[in-house]
Amino acid sequence: MSRRTERVCVVTTAQTQELDVQPTPLALLLLGREADPKSERGVECPGDLPSPSDPDLVERARAAKERLGDKVFVLGHHYQRDEVIQFADVTGDSFKLARDAAARPEAEYIVFCGVHFMAESADILTSDDQKVVLPDLAAGCSMADMATAEQVAECWDVLTEAGIAEQVVPVSYMNSSADIKAFTGKHGGLICTSSNAERALDWAFEQGEKVLFLPDQHLGRNTAVRDLGLSLEDCVLYNPHKPNGGLTVEQLRAAKMILWRGHCSVHGRFSLESVEDVRARIPGVNVLVHPECKHEVVAAADYVGSTEYIIKALEAAPAGSKWAIGTELNLVRRLANRFAPEGKEIVFLDKTVCFCSTMNRIDLPHLVWTLESLAEGKLVNRIEVDKETEAFAKLALERMLALA
Ligand code: 13P
Ligand code: SF4
Repeated sequence: MSRRTERVCVVTTAQTQELDVQPTPLALLLLGREADPKSERGVECPGDLPSPSDPDLVERARAAKERLGDKVFVLGHHYQRDEVIQFADVTGDSFKLARDAAARPEAEYIVFCGVHFMAESADILTSDDQKVVLPDLAAGCSMADMATAEQVAECWDVLTEAGIAEQVVPVSYMNSSADIKAFTGKHGGLICTSSNAERALDWAFEQGEKVLFLPDQHLGRNTAVRDLGLSLEDCVLYNPHKPNGGLTVEQLRAAKMILWRGHCSVHGRFSLESVEDVRARIPGVNVLVHPECKHEVVAAADYVGSTEYIIKALEAAPAGSKWAIGTELNLVRRLANRFAPEGKEIVFLDKTVCFCSTMNRIDLPHLVWTLESLAEGKLVNRIEVDKETEAFAKLALERMLALA
């Protein structure tokens, strides 16, 4: 392992690197208090949490889960903390977890250890009598917050005025609010995750001539250029904070991919420099990154894929191989520990240690509080999407699930 000096940072939802936007008022709210209607998440977290220093937390979580038995099903995204992931019945990437939630009709409670948009998707895909619970309502996603329903409706007006809306198929990343998913379903589009973006774009280009890709510009650009063979010139960037997205009618008409100007603050930290630096430090290293990274990082990497892909690639890697991974740190750290005994050397791609602050909101005290409340018959932190939004969002999600 390298002996680098590491600085620790936690990316907050208020970070707006790359964006010339006003910081969200959310930055001014104390996490866990009040509410921000502009955010895809709620921020009010009721209830008395157990003390984080309670030595019995693990035992309490285990006992409450045992009391709930088959009534509860706990899903854990790969970016969750170890202290939480140990209680997950299944772990996975966004796509796998959406499918796993839909395949569990007997569980009365689906406890989603992940972020708000994932819990919303689980609610959309499960039956009405199943209740989806997010242990901390402040666990949102800054990328999902970068596309609001009003902004997207305005964008559609711009496309309509440019005379191209009928040629455009919206494709929305799973990391978006239920409102955006509903917009997508209503306009003939579908949802994708990082593990099926190529197939989703193939499908979309069979339906229309152009794609509006929301909200992650990087996943959209990387998939279009790397997997579909489009050029960078085929892609334009729609900035919701500028009149007409900052684009001329000619630019919109010439484009094949209209990319929304959103990004992940965690993956946005990885740079070409970090790839060059790790190659210089560790000869023979394989660079494996998530497609939410910038295009130049993805272009310089050896392998690119979703969190599930990253895990499978490391499982299949030979002993003695070396890997630099560009994704969230909870996962990279877990993989480094898991594969060290097999002689696989795994390092974090960036010099600065970086967690996703909102994924990290779900901790053991919140999980214990959630499980104990449910075991006492108290439903807390339910995530419920309204019926009309649900119907259209489900259409878009089901189009994704039906992809071969
Ligand atoms: P996947 O787990 O689908 O690769 O997504 C990563 C992510 O950013 C979830 O927020
Ligand atoms: Fe959102 Fe990025 Fe965190 Fe994923 S890692 S939840 S995209 S901020």
